[in-house]
Amino acid sequence: MKFTPSNMTWLNLPNMPLPVKTLFTGYLLVVGIGLLMAGLQIMMTHGMADGEIGLSKNDIVYSYYGDRSHSTLESKLNGSMKANAPDAVRADIIKWVRKGAPKKDWDAHFKKVFEKHCVACHSNIPNIPNFKNFEEVQKLAATSDGASFQSLTRISHIHLFGISFIFFFISLIFSFAVGIPKKLKVIAIAFPFGFLILDILSWWLTKLNPSFAYLTIIGGIGYSLASTFMWVTSIYQMFILSKNGKVYGNAWEQDL
Ligand code: HEC
Repeated sequence: MKFTPSNMTWLNLPNMPLPVKTLFTGYLLVVGIGLLMAGLQIMMTHGMADGEIGLSKNDIVYSYYGDRSHSTLESKLNGSMKANAPDAVRADIIKWVRKGAPKKDWDAHFKKVFEKHCVACHSNIPNIPNFKNFEEVQKLAATSDGASFQSLTRISHIHLFGISFIFFFISLIFSFAVGIPKKLKVIAIAFPFGFLILDILSWWLTKLNPSFAYLTIIGGIGYSLASTFMWVTSIYQMFILSKNGKVYGNAWEQDL
């Protein structure tokens, strides 16, 4: 039998053969969990950057533009390291850091303070600075410029390649949806890619000027909403809309 576009009446999400639905669903589930984990990770790393729980404009400014009036050491002592030393000790360290963390005070006093409160972790846990070395303390006592250009190029290209793959397949699956106006389909498919570019661009702009941090939030919300819409529509059509047994016809042909 020769297939012409018009008799491929099963080519739509509700009527797709079960093995293909299984493939699509498996992918959507795994990617969905992945996106939730990514959201959680953003909350945990960037979300605490300003010392308060939850993602805010300040977190994005601190992560990309940096905090050019406070050092990483000070930000951390007011942020995720807050619980590790009593307030008086933290204030004492911060005062010293603001003076430029002179070596003579380290030798006379702060070496012991760090030994008492910090070194239990900061000398044993790999990949975090070793506070037995003054040089490593000193480095973090300098004010922060946020993400380096080097790390921005690295995370930018990883994000662009990786996330566009995720969106490509979510959108491809969604392109088989039925009963969605062609215009809305085109917008839903284009949005995540557009917002992804906006998101990455906003990191670079925020690095130059903190007022661009809002773009990062808009980009993130934009592509989360667009991909959630496609995700939910696809699952709904494959498993709920399909129950009425109706033949929906060739979804791609209907969008010609
Ligand atoms: C219970 C273990 C623990 C203790 C105690 C601890 N830290 Fe940390 N510290 C960590 C971990 C884990 C990280 C990496 C995760 C993060 O940045 O929150 C970290 C990260 C940091 C960073 C950021 C390093 C970087 O490269 O960005 C600074 C600064 C810091 N700690 C300062 C301190 C100071 C000062 C003290 C003592 C008052 C202290 N920490 C005590 C576990 C600890």
